[in-house]
Amino acid sequence: MATLDDVLNGLKATAEATRFRLLALFTRAELTVSEVTQILRQSQPRVSRHLKLMSEAGLIERFKEGSWVFYRLAEDGRARALIEKLGELVPWDDAVLKRDLERLDAVRKQREANAQEYFAANAGEWDSLRKLHIPEEQVEGALLEMVGPSQISSYLDLGTGTGRILELVAPRAARAVGIDLNGEMLTLARARIERASLAHAQVRRGDLFQLPYADQSFDLITVHQVLHYLEDPSAAVAEAARVLKPGGKVVIADFAPHALEFLRDEHQHRRLGFADKEVAQWCKAAGLSLAATRALPPRGESGLTVMVWLAVAPAVPQRRAKTAEAA
Ligand SMILES: C[S@@+](CC[C@H](N)C(=O)[O-])C[C@H]1O[C@@H](n2cnc3c(N)ncnc32)[C@H](O)[C@@H]1O
Repeated sequence: MATLDDVLNGLKATAEATRFRLLALFTRAELTVSEVTQILRQSQPRVSRHLKLMSEAGLIERFKEGSWVFYRLAEDGRARALIEKLGELVPWDDAVLKRDLERLDAVRKQREANAQEYFAANAGEWDSLRKLHIPEEQVEGALLEMVGPSQISSYLDLGTGTGRILELVAPRAARAVGIDLNGEMLTLARARIERASLAHAQVRRGDLFQLPYADQSFDLITVHQVLHYLEDPSAAVAEAARVLKPGGKVVIADFAPHALEFLRDEHQHRRLGFADKEVAQWCKAAGLSLAATRALPPRGESGLTVMVWLAVAPAVPQRRAKTAEAA
């Protein structure tokens, strides 16, 4: 519950041009300090000062992952109600804010281009790369356990890559689709499903943030080793929830929090794994509940634990949480 002081501090902290622009930006994305400096075109010390003030007022939260520091709107803090009200006041048609959004878009496109360049360059080797840090058979076994034994009518694999997970799960489904942005990956995925004679499976080029499907189209969705590349994993989960049928399942496999910074530098990872709490928050905001969690510790020295999370949609559709609607 916010006190009078909390509200006044929050208002004071935003009653300044740069900080209000920052608040507006954080309603659209979580950002690193260097991304903020690219968008605002202000020096890093100046930007850091503003961010510190906003953190102290409880408007934003800082989280450090390896050498990167991210900022985002405070989730459950005392200023949450104020943040929502201020977010509604943002005049998006203002020329300065429009320019900020254009630069945010450019930052996102650059990130996306770097990742896609990496996937295009590594498509041929992906099947051996994906084995590097992962006890693959164990992960696939855990994923199939979460999928469960019942027959699936319609299945979607997000960020299908070379289509291994699609190949694994499709035999349990009447219809199966893999979506990916990367043409090189999809060429290999197509060849894979043909080799496996999975005539009821197909792959399609598309963006997992804007799926070309109606609400409530699938009863199972898998997201295997994709979320750590994304700028906004919570938006990916919300979009998955949108196309999930009532009672449907989303199975997510990714890393537990780790400190292997080289995965950013050499393999385009944006996030160094995810804590259960964060995944549970995305699910809740998307109207799903986290039903099971499984940790698969590393096989060798790599130190990477793979997590498999199962989220389920309520059997009777419910209104989404406010933050998911706003996103
Ligand atoms: C690390 S690969 C994982 C592939 C596959 N799921 C697997 O486990 O073998 C990540 C894949 O996500 C895809 N991807 C990244 N961003 C995407 C987006 N916005 N929409 C669709 N696919 C995306 C990449 O092109 C890449 O093929």
